[in-house]
Amino acid sequence: MPSHESEAIAVAAERRWTWIVGAIIAVLILMMVVTGVHWASMPPSRVETIDVKTLHLRGEFIESNLGTAIESDGRVVVRLIAQQYSFEPQCIAVPADTPVTFRATATDAIHGFIIGRTNANTMVVPGFVATFTTSFSRTGEQLMPCHEYCGTGHEAMWGRVQVLPRDEFMAKARPGERLSCVAR
Ligand code: CUA
Repeated sequence: MPSHESEAIAVAAERRWTWIVGAIIAVLILMMVVTGVHWASMPPSRVETIDVKTLHLRGEFIESNLGTAIESDGRVVVRLIAQQYSFEPQCIAVPADTPVTFRATATDAIHGFIIGRTNANTMVVPGFVATFTTSFSRTGEQLMPCHEYCGTGHEAMWGRVQVLPRDEFMAKARPGERLSCVAR
């Protein structure tokens, strides 16, 4: 084969691959733009702020209000605080097969938590209230580690979540009282 012919074949192949690679890059950039715009146009439903300096003095995150509560409208709400290096309360009791709303905030650094093998997973940022609702299908104890590096004691920052059968939880819970695993 004359050298100018093989050169023409090589150039054609290179051009073809240039187009293919270019198309792949274009698709990736398009995916980034589409998902970026999609998420930016759907911000969290609200951003709720809280004053770190006064949250332990008044409002819903005072110590006596932490733990699990049955609200007047029947919702189960867990309120907790993350701080270097523990959660308050350290042990959270929740009913199984029931929507449970978590409301959490931090006092000092950015923390986070994930609850065992569930989809409960949030960051907890000082000055903001993190909230999500989930339900637990399996009873038993789940570990709840802090999953944001928050300082030298980060790896020792754990909580526990006890998922109780719904009837057992409802029998223990008193309207207006806060429930956690450890008797207060
Ligand atoms: Cu708190 Cu890591």
